[in-house]
Amino acid sequence: MRNLRRYATEGHGLWAMVLKETGELIGDCGLTLQDVDGAYEMEIGYHVRRDLWRQGLATEAARACRDHGFRAFPVERLASIIRVENTPSRRGAEKNGMTLWKEVTRAGLAQVVYAIRRAGWALLAEQSSGDRGNG
Ligand SMILES: CC(C)(COP(=O)(O)OP(=O)(O)OC[C@H]1O[C@@H](n2cnc3c(N)ncnc32)[C@H](O)[C@@H]1OP(=O)(O)O)[C@@H](O)C(=O)NCCC(=O)NCCS
Repeated sequence: MRNLRRYATEGHGLWAMVLKETGELIGDCGLTLQDVDGAYEMEIGYHVRRDLWRQGLATEAARACRDHGFRAFPVERLASIIRVENTPSRRGAEKNGMTLWKEVTRAGLAQVVYAIRRAGWALLAEQSSGDRGNG
């Protein structure tokens, strides 16, 4: 229900992650608005079915969410809010071009906020089109 409300009011939310080969539902990923120190940030979040971890699926989904977020919404920054000890998710954020922005306490838990700014994303896009051109 919360996601349906998000689609209607915000135009985004968590989406199903589907394995192309089989059509199976294997997780979710997407863009939600999250309160970080009293300001709303657009967050990229993801969950992958455990038996499919470490195959690059979260990385692929997170990149697609990042590119869609910057293309479809006038945001200056995208963030991922992660429990301090969640190494896989922190690595995923780094692979998504994000760097550590700040540490926060949310719901009594120590969390880190990774972020990428629009200018940094544009630079990444430029570099990857250069790589394609050279390859
Ligand atoms: C976080 C999560 C989505 C990662 O999914 P995934 O599909 O396994 O991620 P990827 O395969 O794209 O891997 C991303 C990076 O994390 C690393 N990684 C994945 N699992 C890891 C683990 N258990 N320990 C250390 N690194 C790990 C990968 O090696 C990869 O880095 P590399 O390319 O430098 O090797 C998955 O572990 C998950 O669903 N966790 C539970 C939900 C969750 O914590 N979501 C995030 C909430 S903020």
